[in-house]
Amino acid sequence: AGRPGLFKARLTAEAAVTRFAEGLDTPILAYNGTSPGPLIEAFEGDRVEITFANRIEGEASTIHWHGMPVPADQDGNPMDPVEAGTDRVYAFELPEGSAGSYWYHPHAHGATAEQVYRGLAGAFVVKAKADPVPAEYGDTVLVLTDLRLAADGSMPANTMTDLMNGRVGDHVLVNGQKNPRLAVTKGAVRRLRLYNATNARFLKLAFDGAAMTVIGTDGGLLAAPVAADEILLSPGERIELVASFSRPGPVTLATLDYDRGWMGPGRPADGGLTLLTVDVSEDAGGAMPPPPARLRPIAPLPAPAFSRRLVFSETMAMNATGMEMGFLINGKAFDMARVDIVGKAGETELWEIVNQADMDHPFHVHGTQFQVIEHERDGKISRPPYLAWKDTVNVARGETLRLLLRQEQPGRRMYHCHILEHEQLGMMGVLDVT
Ligand code: C2O
Ligand code: CU
Ligand code: CU
Repeated sequence: AGRPGLFKARLTAEAAVTRFAEGLDTPILAYNGTSPGPLIEAFEGDRVEITFANRIEGEASTIHWHGMPVPADQDGNPMDPVEAGTDRVYAFELPEGSAGSYWYHPHAHGATAEQVYRGLAGAFVVKAKADPVPAEYGDTVLVLTDLRLAADGSMPANTMTDLMNGRVGDHVLVNGQKNPRLAVTKGAVRRLRLYNATNARFLKLAFDGAAMTVIGTDGGLLAAPVAADEILLSPGERIELVASFSRPGPVTLATLDYDRGWMGPGRPADGGLTLLTVDVSEDAGGAMPPPPARLRPIAPLPAPAFSRRLVFSETMAMNATGMEMGFLINGKAFDMARVDIVGKAGETELWEIVNQADMDHPFHVHGTQFQVIEHERDGKISRPPYLAWKDTVNVARGETLRLLLRQEQPGRRMYHCHILEHEQLGMMGVLDVT
């Protein structure tokens, strides 16, 4: 009901300098001077018009609206570069039911991985007109990125290990800060949106001292809350939680170890990192209501009209500079001019993603949200614990994952591994929706 609002903004990508460590200045890329970029919050039903000014010296870029149902020609695909020194407007509507935790980042051909790790990524939250989650919980967006700094404060170039496993930084940052602190009163409940905006770091997360309930995924709320002890967020994924802080004292959000199939030496310590500290005060604030038993209905997608199979694999090839790894889908490396698969708008398809590689690959597709229906590993089939809207999902090594997907709008869409170095080295394809 009512006229849709107009949401207008301007995002300028440009060089900036930040001080992550005392006395060390680090040249980065930033949207509007900050990394992560500004938090964008708009409402379902809004029309969005965002002017992108590319002021990155000598580099084309784009802005991709990760997870959002925007028209293909507004989605910042590699085929639609915005040249250095130029501007373009991205315009789209946010349909009813699209409330969710999306993000934006560059998708320029051959430059996505580097522009993202240098600092270009931000959260785009689409809010529901009628939100069932109590307003007392607040709404806190936590964008997780990671960073590697050389002794002089600069960001070192990629190594061979980075090209194989993706670039994993040494410092995990929350909204650009290392281990920031949050203060709450005893008994507080907080709504948290966690984003894995790293290029390649798998984040297995747990609170020490707070109860955690999952209320939403990439594409918005679940049907009902689900209690969880830990959460695995692969690169590109988001999760919406409520955390209850019932006892006073510091509570930490930290990482647990997760073996994602590291290749070669130098596997980073990924467990035991404290990401965030919540100081819970002695005095109780006002009592907070529990999350509602029902959040919103999620209708299962209908029986598929069609099914397709995408096989993810790795290769080793000898070239002039030595051995190099290649990352393939159905035996092919990405070619921007080639259409790999063709689909029909409005038709539900079953996608079978087969990971024949030695490491996990988080699968992502543009332009829509999908529903994972089953995982198969060593002949055993398991179903996800809840029905959810997702645009990125980890496919573990040796796993076959099945999902239902429907694209509503025509145009060319990318699908790829969201370890951005793998995307860059070929693990991406083009879906043409007619
Ligand atoms: Cu977040 Cu094609 O990417
Ligand atoms: Cu995307
Ligand atoms: Cu990958």
